[in-house]
Parts: sequence; C-alpha cells; structure tokens
Amino acid sequence: MPQRLGRVLISREEIAHRVGELGRAVAREHAGRVPLLVGVLKGAVIFMADLVRAIRAPVAMDFMGVSSYGPGTRSAGSVRLTADLSVSIEGRAVVIVEDIVDSGWTLDYLRRNLETRHPRSIRTCVLLDKIERRQVDVALDYVGFAIPDHFVVGYGFDLGGLYRGLPDIHILEEQPGAPS
Ligand code: PRP
Repeated sequence: MPQRLGRVLISREEIAHRVGELGRAVAREHAGRVPLLVGVLKGAVIFMADLVRAIRAPVAMDFMGVSSYGPGTRSAGSVRLTADLSVSIEGRAVVIVEDIVDSGWTLDYLRRNLETRHPRSIRTCVLLDKIERRQVDVALDYVGFAIPDHFVVGYGFDLGGLYRGLPDIHILEEQPGAPS
C-alpha cells in the first residue's frame, strides 16, 4: 500500500528538550572522564550531532556501521559489521549511541562486540525504544522516548534512504485507495 508522511509523533522542540536532558545525564555519570560516544551509522548521526553538543563536557566520538541480511530478518547472528571504529576502546568509558532499539539484536551484537575489546565501561543511549518489538533483552541506560510500534521517519529515520533530514519525527501512514 502507498505510504505518506503522517502526523508528527515527536516534535523538534520535544526532541531538543529530551536530548538536553540526556546530555546532562551522560555528563553527570561521566564527570572527570572523557567518554567515547560510538554512533551507529547511519540513522544515529543526527541524534549524535545534537547529543554531543548537549554534553557540556569534553567527549570523543567515533562511528560503527552494522547491517542485517535484509529487511525484517534480524535475529541472533544476522547482524554484521560494515564499518569499524578507528580507535582502540581499551580502558575507555564507551557510550553506544543508537537512534532506535527495535528487536534489540543490533544493540546486543554491538555490546558483545565492544565488550571483547576491554573498555572500562559500556553504556547505551537510545533516542527511541520500541519496547513491544523486543526479541532480545538489552540493557538501556539512557532512553529518549518509548514509542508504540509505528514506522517513523525524520530526525535520522528513513524510508528507502529518504526523510532523514526532517527536523521532527513523523509517523509514516498507509494511504488506502491511493494509486501506487
Ligand atoms: C536501525 C537502527 C538500529 C536498528 C535497530 O537501523 O538504526 O541500528 O535498526 O533494530 P533492531 O533493534 O531490530 O536490531 P537500520 O537498519 O534501519 O539502518 P540505518 O541506521 O542506516 O537507518
């Protein structure tokens, strides 16, 4: 069925307010250290850019790329690394920055992968938590918003690579009767 950009689920003002709170929480917990924020490509880039500016303390950042073997196929073992960190995380306080946790397999994979590199600590910071879709239990330390099972676009979330640059988070709605 054709889809169209639906109502705003989370406005840019609500996002900015919550990201500010998350930034303060990360700064508080890492006072006296320089945490390494690890953004997960590509969706988390927008969130990451705002989050680092909301942490009023020195932070470092790096990125990882992950992919699953096709849409809707995430399961244990289906996630693979497509881009790795450029630095060692041994002894570092790491914060994984994700835009969304759905089944949980991606974050579970990343956490296990990073744990093998002997960081001092690993925390997880996610903007959206689609908790009813969870298949594997993953620990979330900082959560922006819990949302129902809607397909969302904007603020980093895409449909076929589009919509990531929208400033608000929208629901993608099906359009009954529209020509496809
Ligand atoms: C999304 C999101 C997470 C993952 C979460 O990535 O950014 O990485 O899915 O899903 P899970 O909890 O079911 O594993 P996506 O594959 O859409 O890539 P993108 O970030 O490049 O948009």
